[in-house]
Amino acid sequence: FVASKGNYRHFMAKEIHEQPEVVGRTIAHYVDFASGTVVLPELPFSFKDLKRLSITACGTAYYAGLVAKYWFETLARLPVEIDVASEFRYREAPLDPGELAIVISQSGETADTLASLRYAKAQGQHILSVVNVPTSTIARDSAIVAPTLAGPEIGVASTKAFTCQLAVLLSLAIGAARARGHLDEAGEKRLVDALVGVPGLMTEALHGEAAVEGLAREVAKAKDVLYLGRGTSFPLALEGALKLKEISYIHAEGYAAGELKHGPIALIDEDLPVIVIAPCDAVFEKTVSNMQEVAARGGRILLITDRQGVAQSAMDTLGTLVMPDCDPVVAPLVYAVPVQLLAYHTAVFMGKDVDQPRNLAKSVTVE
Ligand code: G6P
Repeated sequence: FVASKGNYRHFMAKEIHEQPEVVGRTIAHYVDFASGTVVLPELPFSFKDLKRLSITACGTAYYAGLVAKYWFETLARLPVEIDVASEFRYREAPLDPGELAIVISQSGETADTLASLRYAKAQGQHILSVVNVPTSTIARDSAIVAPTLAGPEIGVASTKAFTCQLAVLLSLAIGAARARGHLDEAGEKRLVDALVGVPGLMTEALHGEAAVEGLAREVAKAKDVLYLGRGTSFPLALEGALKLKEISYIHAEGYAAGELKHGPIALIDEDLPVIVIAPCDAVFEKTVSNMQEVAARGGRILLITDRQGVAQSAMDTLGTLVMPDCDPVVAPLVYAVPVQLLAYHTAVFMGKDVDQPRNLAKSVTVE
């Protein structure tokens, strides 16, 4: 296999642009279009009987898991414990036999994630892995494999694997919700329809690339950047900050918007761009008040929202990226696109080695 960049300057750009296709392919693997239901791999347990779920991963895969925690808890009423693998494997967490451990990994070779899997297995847990490489060690060690069909990912900063992980995890959460009696047929169909609409929405989001490029020039001037979000946009804020620091080397932090006043608000001045990820969802009004707190202190906001969000926030921003309208449930998949593009164009603008950032490896097989 020889990977090609096609017409793109970098693998990362190619992989960002491939998302409508590979996320579509992944979704097609987990849904039955005709009936509007999800189709899960065969499971040796029932979601109905689970008391709780543990999720373990590293890096970007961990943030996919953090989004999934919101989905499993809200949709399926299934309590989720999530941790980075390097902590989970050593903290001797008590795990009940017969419960489910989900591990998420693009490469399927990350040493800490593999060790966490083996720890959970030794406690008698069912292991379900969400992996992109079906021949990997993690896949081979798992009783249940839920593949992401992202294809080979070459850029060190993960993009398409992340959104494919989200597609798989949302399918699992919908299946869990149905099995646990929290979703009727119509409810499941509504969620599946929203999921099936994602590739089209991602394409629309990609059409906003020129606007993102303009904002990247502003971000490139910064020494530090703060990302804020609430609900499922909180993990996305963490992922946005990770992407930016990985490839542009600009210091960035992601924060739950509600935590602003417990620390990061002290940093606000006109030199610290604040990137707010806020689809107009149930917590939007709360995020607007956080933006007002930033604006009142001379902070400059870069807002990623939808048309309704623009109308309702009426904020004076450094820039606003308007995303297509979508069901808030699938917003993380759609909003990942501008978040990735912003990091990408900032790094390109700064002349950094986007596909092979310094000190980072695509797959971390050492502890
Ligand atoms: C490395 C990569 C990241 C990735 C993380 C976890 O740090 O640079 O992009 O998210 O490992 O990798 P995995 O293959 O387990 O998803």
